[in-house]
Amino acid sequence: MTNDVPVIAIDGPAASGKGTIAIALAEDLGWHRLDSGLLYRTVAYVIDQWNLDYSDPETIQDHIRNFLSFSVGENPPNADSHKQIEFPKVSVHVQIQRLTGSKVWYNAQEITPVLRSEHISRLSSYAARIPTLRNELIPIQRELRQPPGLVAEGRDMGTVLFPTADLKIFLTADVAVRAQRRFDQYAKDRKQTYEEILEDLRERDRQDMHRGIAPLKKAEDAIEIDCTYLSVKCVVEKVLQAVPAALKVA
Ligand code: C5P
Repeated sequence: MTNDVPVIAIDGPAASGKGTIAIALAEDLGWHRLDSGLLYRTVAYVIDQWNLDYSDPETIQDHIRNFLSFSVGENPPNADSHKQIEFPKVSVHVQIQRLTGSKVWYNAQEITPVLRSEHISRLSSYAARIPTLRNELIPIQRELRQPPGLVAEGRDMGTVLFPTADLKIFLTADVAVRAQRRFDQYAKDRKQTYEEILEDLRERDRQDMHRGIAPLKKAEDAIEIDCTYLSVKCVVEKVLQAVPAALKVA
């Protein structure tokens, strides 16, 4: 049934502008939005709390299977929901919000801002290489395909999650330009130099493109947009222009 709901899949490397474009599109169309990276960031946060080592993926998988209670919903978690939970058991709740962006709660405490830190950004691409973890997140992401439509952004939206998406966009931009954008974005509360951000992005690109499972790559039928020299407004306009034809084909 949900397969009838239209999807726009936006994939691309870190800091290519996927989030900004997805928000603008979802607002314009009145559709839902999936920020799939937030889920990988959340799991990376949990693994970090457990203090587990990525060189031992079995233990990570074991912990996820046995000690992680993961829920998704439109409301915040019940304030008492975590009271029975004792470490290493943890509860995570993702509160999906259509436009303002989802919020994440760890044992009923909101952790959304922490998930955007460079520390978690780095760890998230390690977490994203674990096959069982990716597989567990698949149904949660597909569940968000709800009427009137979904704008989904990440690395494998067009290739793995929604291979029949009505419109697939692959956003790229020169890594130096992406690093500069990130550097400017964190101007008020900057913890890294431009060179450190550049190095982190290069490393994440390398990991995301060369992993064995669901690597970052352009789907064969995706439209590639290089936004190195394009403004966000211009990219949104380009994508919106492609929407009517794409939805008629569906
Ligand atoms: O998009 P964002 O930078 O928030 O994603 C954080 C990390 O999560 C990425 O570097 C990538 O390793 C992983 N990710 C993924 N598949 C997705 C979305 C994100 O592997 N669909």
